[in-house]
Amino acid sequence: SPRYAVFGQPVSHSLSPAIHAAFGRALSIPLRYEAIEAAPADFADALAAFAAGGGRGGNVTLPLKELAVPLCASLGDSARRAGAVNTLVRRGDGWHGENTDGRGLVRDLTDRAGLDLRARRTLLIGAGGAARGVAPALLDAGIGDLYIVNRTGGRADALADALGQPGRVHPRYLDDAGKLGEFDLVINATSAGRGSGLPILPRSVLAHRAVAVDLNYGEVAVRFLSWARAAGAHDVVDGLGMLVEQAAEGFALWHGVRPDTDEVYRQLRSRNA
Ligand code: ATR
Repeated sequence: SPRYAVFGQPVSHSLSPAIHAAFGRALSIPLRYEAIEAAPADFADALAAFAAGGGRGGNVTLPLKELAVPLCASLGDSARRAGAVNTLVRRGDGWHGENTDGRGLVRDLTDRAGLDLRARRTLLIGAGGAARGVAPALLDAGIGDLYIVNRTGGRADALADALGQPGRVHPRYLDDAGKLGEFDLVINATSAGRGSGLPILPRSVLAHRAVAVDLNYGEVAVRFLSWARAAGAHDVVDGLGMLVEQAAEGFALWHGVRPDTDEVYRQLRSRNA
């Protein structure tokens, strides 16, 4: 059967192999999906070897999403606007790059969590690969003004520039987050939970009925989402649903059919409460 793989470092914890295997079983589509550990310096070689060995599609996770861009022969709109690739599709003798993270997030928030994103004044914390992946789809989903705050201000400026909607997208320093008023949607797109820890935001950033989202899941998401709950967020959403939904989008690109995600989501949720 055709080969698929997720590339990352570290990659052993990735849930993607289990998710794609479950989708394949549910739809009776035979596939092989493996996890391939690749350091940034080895990624190009690993991807070429995978293609030579019959690789038909791939997912790209930390820290390789931005490095995948120049390895693609063509890019879809989603990947071009994000400047990051999370899904690779073999086309002819090259890779086509897409980014399904943003659509996955929007699908999770609207369909699973039942939220209306339209006109929500939004605070996006972080300007790295994860933030880049979701910002275009959030704008497309009709959110209101988007404030991007980042510890390193220059990266917030660069992301805002790339989004190309200066009237609607406002880059700021993370330290100034408390001076920007109230937000209806606050999204942690930093990797801070994995390391030194995000500075605690004033609870005044959360508007009445605000939704707080962490693009991470599991242990990494606990700190931000605990803060959000204590600070009075109306809804609190981690990144597990986005993970399943971005996988379903990728599966559809590879196999031509979008799997139902509810069962896989339920199973993962029962193990990642
Ligand atoms: P990812 O693909 O997860 O976004 P990344 O591209 O390395 O990874 O970006 C990490 C993001 O988390 C960045 O926005 C980073 O801020 P800087 O650009 O200033 O480095 C943010 N981040 C990581 N640790 C942080 C911390 N302790 N406090 C605040 N922001 C942090």
